[in-house]
Amino acid sequence: MRRRIRDGRVPVVADPIEPVSLRAGELLLRPWRPDDAAAVHRICQDPDILRWTTVPSPYPPEAAEAFVVATAEQWASGVTASWAVVDTADAVLASVSLSDLDRGYPELGFWVAPEARGRGVSAAASREACRWAFDRGAPKVLWLADVGNEASWRVARQVGFAYEGRRFAECGHRDGHRTDAWAASLLPGALDGPVVPLPYEPFTPLQDGEVTVRRWRETDAEAYAALQNEPSVARWDAATPELTIEAAAARLRGAHVEDWMLGRVARLAICVDEVVVGDVQVRTPSYPPGTGELGWSLRSTARGRGVATRAVGLVRDWAFGGLGLRRLLAGVDVGNTRSRALAERLGFRHEGVHRSEAPRVDGTVHDGLSFGLLPTDLS
Ligand SMILES: CC(C)(COP(=O)(O)OP(=O)(O)OC[C@H]1O[C@@H](n2cnc3c(N)ncnc32)[C@H](O)[C@@H]1OP(=O)(O)O)[C@@H](O)C(=O)NCCC(=O)NCCS
Repeated sequence: MRRRIRDGRVPVVADPIEPVSLRAGELLLRPWRPDDAAAVHRICQDPDILRWTTVPSPYPPEAAEAFVVATAEQWASGVTASWAVVDTADAVLASVSLSDLDRGYPELGFWVAPEARGRGVSAAASREACRWAFDRGAPKVLWLADVGNEASWRVARQVGFAYEGRRFAECGHRDGHRTDAWAASLLPGALDGPVVPLPYEPFTPLQDGEVTVRRWRETDAEAYAALQNEPSVARWDAATPELTIEAAAARLRGAHVEDWMLGRVARLAICVDEVVVGDVQVRTPSYPPGTGELGWSLRSTARGRGVATRAVGLVRDWAFGGLGLRRLLAGVDVGNTRSRALAERLGFRHEGVHRSEAPRVDGTVHDGLSFGLLPTDLS
């Protein structure tokens, strides 16, 4: 949870809320107790909790003691409902809270102990917390997370939250700087609805023994910046400022994840021996349905060995197979003979010329060649 900043707002006096416990299958959501402080202190040493929430960092024992006491006061103030999520042995697995209960709608927050992750604990517990909020008349529940917290977004969508967009400078950080948040809302009718599969999933890395094609990761920032900045790659695009490693990391954890989660572009890294050497994307416009546009680039050090042909071929097969597309498109600058040859090796057929379509880094604009591919072209 990323708390909305309330500076300057007039405080609202709310009715106290009687602390309640809720069941979520085998899990119990119960009010925090003073003797939970040791567990909270241990769990809040986790780097992901320190990175993605506003808990103090470093997190001393006193912070945990203050937290469990404060939660009792928050129930009494009618502003925040805060639960320990425990298993059948009463071991603390997670935290779930609803803040801003005195306002138009509450905001959901959660963390899970590292050893309890991967079992849907926060989704199950959050679902029951949201149900409780709706039973009390909340019209919706808000979820906010730092841009980049994909695990949190995945939990929210499991519960039924629908992505709304980015909120600029929504997240205040410990050092005072602010960053954007992802925002999503849960409406009562979506709570028990089916979870729609993500557009590009299930997805497992594509491999053929020589190359691997996998999702880009934030930790690839250096390789991503090097690829984008390489003159022989950048020359085939409009001039853009050099991509810093910091900006590359922001793109990988932000826009790339949004594009993936929303089914706009599947952006994939080409790896040889676990070293990133290139990029392949499948852009999937909502219209015309069933079509995708492939794009690719490769570091010059990896060229001339068939790496791009193998990698883009794997993505082509995934696009027609797992993704179920019926037509692929590729656009190539008229002067980019290597790229044109790659398209033709993969079976693409030249379909037309788009006049004055392809900008180059030197400011000139050239014709673009369009290539199309249907699964039947390959048989
Ligand atoms: C977010 C958090 C609560 C999720 O824990 P959890 O409920 O056990 O959830 P899971 O570990 O099952 O992960 C949920 C999903 O995220 C995915 N995921 C997990 N870690 C991930 C990561 N580092 N990057 C991308 N996806 C990740 C899982 O594969 C799973 O995907 P799926 O639902 O599509 O199968 C936990 O990671 C956490 O406590 N993080 C730190 C605190 C935090 O970020 N709180 C939310 C603040 S807004």
